[in-house]
Amino acid sequence: MDILEGIKTRHSTRKFKSNPVPKELIETVIDAGRRAPTGGNLQQIHFIVIMNQDILKNLVTIVQEEYGKMPVTEHMPAYMKNIIEMSAQGKFVFNYNAPVLVVVAHKPVLANNFADSAVAMENMMLACNALDLGSCWVNQIRHLQDNERLVNQLRELGLGADEKVYASLAVGYPDLPNGLNRRVLEIKGNPVTWID
Ligand SMILES: Cc1cc2nc3c(=O)[nH]c(=O)nc-3n(C[C@H](O)[C@H](O)[C@H](O)COP(=O)(O)O)c2cc1C
Repeated sequence: MDILEGIKTRHSTRKFKSNPVPKELIETVIDAGRRAPTGGNLQQIHFIVIMNQDILKNLVTIVQEEYGKMPVTEHMPAYMKNIIEMSAQGKFVFNYNAPVLVVVAHKPVLANNFADSAVAMENMMLACNALDLGSCWVNQIRHLQDNERLVNQLRELGLGADEKVYASLAVGYPDLPNGLNRRVLEIKGNPVTWID
């Protein structure tokens, strides 16, 4: 797939088949993430690739239970209220049941940690598009980055003592009638100022 075509047709997938994804494909996705630029070329992102379904289910349970305990406040954005309410009802599955989750961790002492993580995420999402895999940036593992229960579980999975989670990516085969939804949309936001 042509790169520009891949950029235009990439979209988030939120319904996944439970079929496992061959490891070679996930290796290609991770390779794309590792090839992304990093500030100072320090290459200090840590990719934790979770393909074990029991571990994934446990993470989903932790996220659901921890969000379910949070109070809903008046000024909270609607999507957050929704996450908390669904979690309290045991219905929130942050990774949309995708069979693979890539957790992107970095050292918080570095100024470029978030930017490094974001470009790696985009590279991986574009690689997924090229490989006919669905992907969705899922932010709950990042949002709960200071939650002791979740962090302890992630440390057991290899998150370094000096690392924090910056993003995570759900990956799997799309469970949609026509495969990936590669519609090209008109962009209404992100204004551009041209100085000719
Ligand atoms: C920083 C960031 C955080 C996001 N967090 C979530 C998330 O937690 N759950 C989710 O379903 N989508 C999440 N998304 C996906 C966006 O909602 C999505 O990219 C946007 O609506 C545009 O749609 P598209 O990806 O289909 O083009 C996130 C995207 C970004 C860049």
